[in-house]
Amino acid sequence: MKSTHYQAREPDDCGFIAYPESEHHVWNTLITRQLTVIEGRACQEYLDGIEQLGLPHERIPQLSEVNKVLEASTGWRVARVPALIPFQTFFELLASKQFPVATFIRTPQELDYLQEPDIFHEIFGHCPLLTNPWFAEFTHTYGKLGLAASKEERVYLARLYWLTIEFGLVDTSQGRKIYGGGILSSPKETVYCLSNEPEHLAFDPIEAMRTPYRIDILQPVYFALPELKRLFDLAHEDIMGMVQQAMKMGLHAPKFAPKAA
Ligand SMILES: [Fe+2]
Repeated sequence: MKSTHYQAREPDDCGFIAYPESEHHVWNTLITRQLTVIEGRACQEYLDGIEQLGLPHERIPQLSEVNKVLEASTGWRVARVPALIPFQTFFELLASKQFPVATFIRTPQELDYLQEPDIFHEIFGHCPLLTNPWFAEFTHTYGKLGLAASKEERVYLARLYWLTIEFGLVDTSQGRKIYGGGILSSPKETVYCLSNEPEHLAFDPIEAMRTPYRIDILQPVYFALPELKRLFDLAHEDIMGMVQQAMKMGLHAPKFAPKAA
């Protein structure tokens, strides 16, 4: 596991997490800005989730508030975790319909980008779509498969996750939109991903598994689903068989420069 200088905040005996005013201010800055940037760019299912969640703007929400909405819609919950968790814990949580949320928020110095997933990324980026049964089903299946997978298989599954749940696009009657939480929590990537700069490919799960990525740059290539329900259908297909095929076929050459040492 990598190291981080962030530390998740602990709840009190009632499960309440107290954040200093400066951190509520960061949340307010992020959510105010991002709600404007996603207009016309996020898919409708995500926007429906935003409406259902009714996230506060002036303060960081408590996990219990998010849980009320998720439990009523798809039976999911968010689970408080430290800033970084092992793959094993990640899969165990998803397999039990719990989405990990590290209870820390980025510093003002890292407002635009940080590598660690903070509470803004997890709640604003991912929780809206966890109210959607198709997305929720796919995420649950993904967790169960990951839990049973070998270390080598998990690397292929991770690429599928990256290019769907984190960085996925979807075609709609209103045009190509965003559903990936990694994009929707980043103002820069929200605008960039739909521009002419990156490459867009029709979604193909095996191709996604074969596509290398870097977590510290804007993505050079995105996969667009024909519709969000494709994720639900995929959850009922032989994903592990696809992992085997992807392993046999091997990785594509990266479309980005190697990370400087
Ligand atoms: Fe994420």
